[in-house]
Amino acid sequence: MASRVGEAIPLARPVVGESEIERVLEVLRSGRLSLGPLLAEFEQAFGRKVGAAHASAVSSGTAGLHLALRAVGVSDGDEVVTSPLSFVASANVVVYERATPVFADIDPVTFNLDPEAAAAAVTERTTALLPVHLFGYPADLGAFERIGLPIIEDACEALGATDADGVPVGGRGHPAVFGFYANKQITTGEGGMVTTANGDVKERIDSERNQGRAPDMDWLDHDRLGFNYRLSEIACALGLAQLEHLDGLLAGRARVASAYSEALADIEGVDLPCPDSTPAHPRIRRGWFVYVIQLPRDVNRDSIVRALATRGIPSKPYFPAVHLMSYYREQFGHKEGEFPVCEDVAARSIALPFFPDMTESQVEQVAESVREVLGR
Ligand SMILES: Cc1ncc(COP(=O)(O)O)c(C=O)c1O
Repeated sequence: MASRVGEAIPLARPVVGESEIERVLEVLRSGRLSLGPLLAEFEQAFGRKVGAAHASAVSSGTAGLHLALRAVGVSDGDEVVTSPLSFVASANVVVYERATPVFADIDPVTFNLDPEAAAAAVTERTTALLPVHLFGYPADLGAFERIGLPIIEDACEALGATDADGVPVGGRGHPAVFGFYANKQITTGEGGMVTTANGDVKERIDSERNQGRAPDMDWLDHDRLGFNYRLSEIACALGLAQLEHLDGLLAGRARVASAYSEALADIEGVDLPCPDSTPAHPRIRRGWFVYVIQLPRDVNRDSIVRALATRGIPSKPYFPAVHLMSYYREQFGHKEGEFPVCEDVAARSIALPFFPDMTESQVEQVAESVREVLGR
C-alpha cells in the first residue's frame, strides 16, 4: 500500500482486506456465530500450516497458555521455569494455577531464555519449562528438551518461525501457543491457538475451553472444571482469511525488517536485532513480529521516546522485565540485579513502528528521526 502524504505512522497495523470482510459477512449471514463448522476448519488449516497433528482454537494466547499448562499437569505449589523478558501473560498463567514462575536470565544475543540458566533454576518442584520465542526468534528447543521436563512453548509472537532443526515453531510436538491479538502475524482481533502432537492434550484443552464438557457429551453435562475460552465463528472466519495470506504477510514483515536493518546499520551505540541464522544454525528463520532496537546506554530512553513522538513517530519501551513489575516484586520479592542481561536489555529496548505494508519511505523517515533524536 502506498504511503499517504501526511499520514501518521502507527506503531502496528493489521492488514485486513476484502477476503476477510467477505468471510466474516458469510458467518454473519449464516446465523451460526459460535461452535460452528469454521472452528475445526481453522484448527485444521492452522495445524497444517505449522506441521502439527492437532490444534485447538481459544479466545486468546493467554487462555491457550493457561490450558496448555493445565494439560501438562502444572498445579498448586509447582514451579515453572520461564523468561523474565516477555509479555506478562507467560508468567501470569503460572500464577493462575497457584504455581510459581521461576525466572532465569536470557541469552544476550537472541534475548530468549538461556537454556543453561534455565537448567540451573530447576528444582525438585519444577514441573515444566515455558520458553518464549521472543519477538519471533525461535527458542533453543533442542537444549530445553535435553533438560528432560515437559515443555510449553510460548509462540504467541512466533508464527512463521523455523527453529535450528528446520522445524516450524508449533510443529515440534510440545503444546505451543500462538496469539492472534491485532499486532500479531495474523489476527482475529483477540484469539489464540494451541498446537500439539498429543491427542489427549487436544481433548483436554477442547473440553476445558468449553466449561469442561467433553466434545461427545450431552448438552450441558460437564465432567471436569472448565472455562469459557472459546473462539467465535466470526473470529475463526477472520483467522482463516488471514491464514490464506500468511506467506505474504510474513514476507512483508521480513522486507520491512531488512529495510530497517539497512537504514539503521551505522548509528553508533544502537544495537539491532540479531540476524536470523548463523553459520552454526543456518536453518533458523525468525517469524518477524516487532522491530526492537537497543538504544545506547548513555541516553535517556524516555526523552528519546518523547522526542520521536514530537516528530510523529510512535515507539515504546518493549518489554519491561516481568520480575520487576510491581505485582511480581510484591508477591515474589523480586528486585533489581537478579537477571542482569534481561534488565540491561529491558532498560535499553524500544519497539519502532512495524507492520507488513510499511513503505520504504516510512522506514527511512523513522530511521532518520532516530538518528536525529540521538544526535548521531
Ligand atoms: C510473548 C507473549 N505471550 C503471551 C501473549 C498473550 O497473548 P494474548 O494477548 O492473545 O492473550 C502475548 C501477546 O500479546 C505475547 O506477546
